[in-house]
Amino acid sequence: MSKILFDPMKHPDWIPPHTAEWHANLALETGGYKYPWKSVFDEPRAELVFADKITAYLNENTRVLDVGCGHGEFTKSFTHKAKEILGIDLMEGYIASAKENASESISFLVVDADKPLPFPDDSFDVVYTKKGPWLFHKGIEEGHRVIKPRGMALGLYHCGTDGGLRSHFPGLYSPFPDNYLEDIKVKFEGQLSESNLEKVELQIFEEVEFLSRPEDVLIKKCFGQKETLKKIVWQECLQDVEEIFMRYATPRGLKVVNYHALMIGQAR
Ligand SMILES: C[S@@+](CC[C@H](N)C(=O)[O-])C[C@H]1O[C@@H](n2cnc3c(N)ncnc32)[C@H](O)[C@@H]1O
Repeated sequence: MSKILFDPMKHPDWIPPHTAEWHANLALETGGYKYPWKSVFDEPRAELVFADKITAYLNENTRVLDVGCGHGEFTKSFTHKAKEILGIDLMEGYIASAKENASESISFLVVDADKPLPFPDDSFDVVYTKKGPWLFHKGIEEGHRVIKPRGMALGLYHCGTDGGLRSHFPGLYSPFPDNYLEDIKVKFEGQLSESNLEKVELQIFEEVEFLSRPEDVLIKKCFGQKETLKKIVWQECLQDVEEIFMRYATPRGLKVVNYHALMIGQAR
């Protein structure tokens, strides 16, 4: 029976990921939503697949909205591919980083996407989000209001990591619930079919990543946490994590699998 490792989520200083407090801490400490661990990937890479899907709908006349753009790195990858691109995010710190070195056709605004959006009806040909708010849920009007008729809505969501990670490091990581991936598929299918979009595509796919060093297992777990908590986690876990990592790592690093949901719909 494997040793149960220290669970940082049970520590009182743990900040639940993806909350306003967690994003505020990341914005303060790094100015952006950037994965800080070292790793290499196999093809296909989720973000590249998503970028290609978006690019297929862009041309010199397209107006694009990136909802929850973070520090704008992904938004800027579409420079010169559309007429106008607007990235919006709730976090001032992320938007301040995004505005640095933005080209003329790309702008960034602090906007809460849970509130009425400050844009006229039928403003955008493409509305996408990479892990941010999805504006086409049943009952949410704003996505449908600001997207043009026949405009494209795209979303990419990270649905968790496993591929052995969760059983190799019990306590630090916990197993996926039974039927997790089937339930994810049902959830996103429902999300698309309940929206007012015509469903074009739903893909749940796997991305293979190799974490480079033992500490990357901890850096991944503690993404967005305060330095004080990280110190405790390193003290409690690093030695065990090193041993486990060495047992399972391949020459490229420790293999893990990221699950992603990619949704594409078309406005009526
Ligand atoms: C997981 S991060 C992804 C950031 C960026 N899209 C990326 O992939 O690098 C989610 C982003 O959505 C933003 N967000 C969450 N709720 C929001 C809201 N109500 N309005 C605007 N942005 C929001 C967060 O501040 C955060 O930057």
